Amino acid sequence: MRAVDIIARKRDGHTLTPAEIEFMVDGTVAGSVPDYQTAAWLMAIYLRGMRPEETAVLTERMRVSGDVFDLGSVPGIKVDKHSTGGVGDKVSLALAPLVAAAGVPVPMVSGRGLGHSGGTLDKLEAIPGFDVFRTEAEFRRQVAEVGCAIIGQTDNFVPADKRLYALRDVVACVESIPLITASIMSKKLASGADALVMDVKSGNGAFMKTDGDAAALAESLIATGRAMGKPVVALLTDMNQPLGRAIGNALETAEAIECLRGGGPADLREITLMLGAEMLVLGEKAKSPEEARATLTRLLDGGQALEKFRQMVRHQGGDPRVADDPGLMAKAPQVTVLRASTAGYVSRLDTAEIGRASNILGAGREKSADAVDHRVGLVMRVRLGDQVAEGDELLEIHHREGDGTLERCQAVLLPAIVIGDARPGVSPLIHRRM
Ligand code: URA
Repeated sequence: MRAVDIIARKRDGHTLTPAEIEFMVDGTVAGSVPDYQTAAWLMAIYLRGMRPEETAVLTERMRVSGDVFDLGSVPGIKVDKHSTGGVGDKVSLALAPLVAAAGVPVPMVSGRGLGHSGGTLDKLEAIPGFDVFRTEAEFRRQVAEVGCAIIGQTDNFVPADKRLYALRDVVACVESIPLITASIMSKKLASGADALVMDVKSGNGAFMKTDGDAAALAESLIATGRAMGKPVVALLTDMNQPLGRAIGNALETAEAIECLRGGGPADLREITLMLGAEMLVLGEKAKSPEEARATLTRLLDGGQALEKFRQMVRHQGGDPRVADDPGLMAKAPQVTVLRASTAGYVSRLDTAEIGRASNILGAGREKSADAVDHRVGLVMRVRLGDQVAEGDELLEIHHREGDGTLERCQAVLLPAIVIGDARPGVSPLIHRRM
């Protein structure tokens, strides 16, 4: 078999055989297929697409390209959640302990910030001592003993995705549904989950800007799960404004703790309950989403979910007292308030730009080697559709002093918050269930 022939067949719109896909994945990881041929192959897939059966073969070959976590010894149906990424999305921090408190084991292998969107691992590392580097054995033990663990990828975790993603990033092939599907599903299924709930974000702060694109990605994720014998439920959720109020690592972790204490912003609580209800049904701990929701509401308001969070933090070396006192996390030295320069309605929030503004403060990375400042970020004081008077608070900027980041952040924020004369239509939080 030759890579050039496989590239040509995909270029010409043919369906690749499993052997051809496996040849390209294995060759890319081993180095026997050079990067320029892999890159050409990725572009051919980007332009020609893949049939669902090709995507399933690609996913499976990527899944087994490195460490595959075996959680067979952990009793129960293991259910994980994946979000396609957005701004202010701290759901995993509250959801994993909440669902574990209801008796469904949650094995989560999470990522770091990507582009304008934040990463769960960076948020957890705002907790003093919290360690996301765990071996497979430690991960398995924690999922069995506590019911949930949120860790980073081990060095040899789905190496095919590391290689393919790095190439996609530099040859403009990220936004391809089969490639995104295989990237997400190979990692989620290598982490030992039996079933998955997908939070597919749709809107101006998401990868998928329209419901049509988000639904196409959700369909592809569901079909690939089905081909691999793993049930997948997807919720299409709104990302036309940040989720909750806080953006930035320690600020978001504190907000997730508020949610675990039964409070927090209404949209964060709602989405946590909606996703959690699907997870309980898949984990066979509830017969219907309604029954699941009643259970989860009790666990959030009764303190059991918070106790599970405390246990998870303690197991991963963090200071469990943050569950009772989020003030133990480091704070930014300065807070500056951004105010409305005119009266009207908050008619548009450019969510991706708001995420980028937070990253400029130091909450995210410009290059993968950059360090993250856990203290900095934004706290929204308005939501889409709110009426404001001139001088009203729009948001808080938590920042460092004297390094120019405040000024650069403000320059990005000003055009990202549009105040208009008419009250805008606001999309619902949950667009669709699939
Ligand atoms: N997230 C992933 O893990 N992979 C993609 O390709 C896109 C988003």
